[in-house]
Amino acid sequence: MKNIVILISGTGSNMAAIVQAARQQKWSERLGARVAAVISNRPDAKGLLFAREQGIATAVVDHTAHASREAFDAALAQAVDAHRPALVALAGFMRVLTPGFVARYAGRLLNIHPSLLPAFAGLHTHQRALDEGCKVAGATVHQVTAQLDHGQILAQAAVPVLPDDTAETLAARVLTQEHLIYPQAIARLLAAQQEAAVRDRTQ
Ligand code: GAR
Repeated sequence: MKNIVILISGTGSNMAAIVQAARQQKWSERLGARVAAVISNRPDAKGLLFAREQGIATAVVDHTAHASREAFDAALAQAVDAHRPALVALAGFMRVLTPGFVARYAGRLLNIHPSLLPAFAGLHTHQRALDEGCKVAGATVHQVTAQLDHGQILAQAAVPVLPDDTAETLAARVLTQEHLIYPQAIARLLAAQQEAAVRDRTQ
């Protein structure tokens, strides 16, 4: 079975969407994959409660308990590796990862970002889109590289920006699309990994 490990920092609605898609679309039967663990850098992340209710293993690696980014990432990698992940999905995980951590999971580390990358990497994406007068906004699923919010784009969804939008109303509209494209992108990647494995075996 291929293990998916999801990293969160807060609400975890994207994580919940992935967990629900995995169940509804029978990923374990169709793709040989399951959500094995949810790990948070914040002990109070709401999403941990949902994961526990679903019977998914959870762990907390508190970044405030580590003296450096390197020390935190080493502890995080240990917690992640305990689940032998085929895929690590950042879902509202609000820590910048070191190049060493990113390299360790190269090709199997994904992120969802609330903008149409390469526009608006970084924080406050919705307010920045409103300030620029953007008429569309959206979200991007991408491979994680050492450069923040860069890496191969796997999926995007666009939504209209409405005249009376606030950062909050726009964020809510974008989030509904995030919940669709993140599970889709993960399922596509897992299916591609499965096909590649079959090809390798038959060559
Ligand atoms: C989502 O909008 C996600 O795209 C964003 O945080 C939110 C988390 O919501 N991620 C980032 O800004 C990463 N830089 P969730 O906890 O409900 O999934």
